[in-house]
Amino acid sequence: MFNLILFGPPGSGKGTQSEKLIAKYNLKHLSTGDLLRSEIAKKTTLGLEAKKFMDKGQLVPDEVVIGMISTALDQNPDAAGFLFDGFPRTSKQAEALDNLLKLKNLSINVMLALDVTEEELVKRLLKRGETSGRPDDNNDQVIRTRIHEYHKKTSPVADHYKKSNKVVLVKGEGSVDNIFNSLAKEIDVRLVKV
Ligand code: AP5
Ligand code: MG
Repeated sequence: MFNLILFGPPGSGKGTQSEKLIAKYNLKHLSTGDLLRSEIAKKTTLGLEAKKFMDKGQLVPDEVVIGMISTALDQNPDAAGFLFDGFPRTSKQAEALDNLLKLKNLSINVMLALDVTEEELVKRLLKRGETSGRPDDNNDQVIRTRIHEYHKKTSPVADHYKKSNKVVLVKGEGSVDNIFNSLAKEIDVRLVKV
């Protein structure tokens, strides 16, 4: 079992790199953003409630996303490992994840943190907003709120995993393939030890 958190601010490339990493390492991709957007598309009560926060660029309440991850872990007992994308995003979520994994005798092997300047993040998200249809991408103010939420509530999550020496910072600017190679290198050295 190899469990990885792909960490980084909005627009840092977590989703882009996740697609390539799950293919190479046969991991189960758990993206809370994707799970929430699928609930919104199905117009479930959870989705409609979450949408109110997401459209403003604010984090959805911890209980909601922790519940979704708990269900997803239970639904995938045979996974070779999990790639967490966009989760955990608060200290409370990080503690909950550690506890959920511990119940299954599992733990996080590494947190790979994508490092991208704020100017580049805003540029990428506004560009995607032209075509993505994501309501949180096409408004400069909402993008700023997402980045602000990240600094205030999410960056402490890296400190949580630094305590156990699990955080590796990876340059998140440049070509998608070069960034992928840097991430894969960090995974490969750790896979040898598992
Ligand atoms: P979520 O869906 O997780 O979005 P995010 O983290 O805000 O950011 P993105 O998914 O937009 O960026 P990304 O890092 O995946 O980058 P991507 O590869 O897409 O969350 C959305 C909302 O849901 C939150 O605001 C919150 O409300 C809620 N939520 C989700 N999880 C939650 C949680 N755990 N707790 C509470 N609330 C939660 O790339 C971005 C763009 O850049 C793309 O267009 C891509 O093509 C481009 N790009 C990628 N790599 C490169 C590159 N190397 N060079 C140039 N462009 C690139
Ligand atoms: Mg994403």
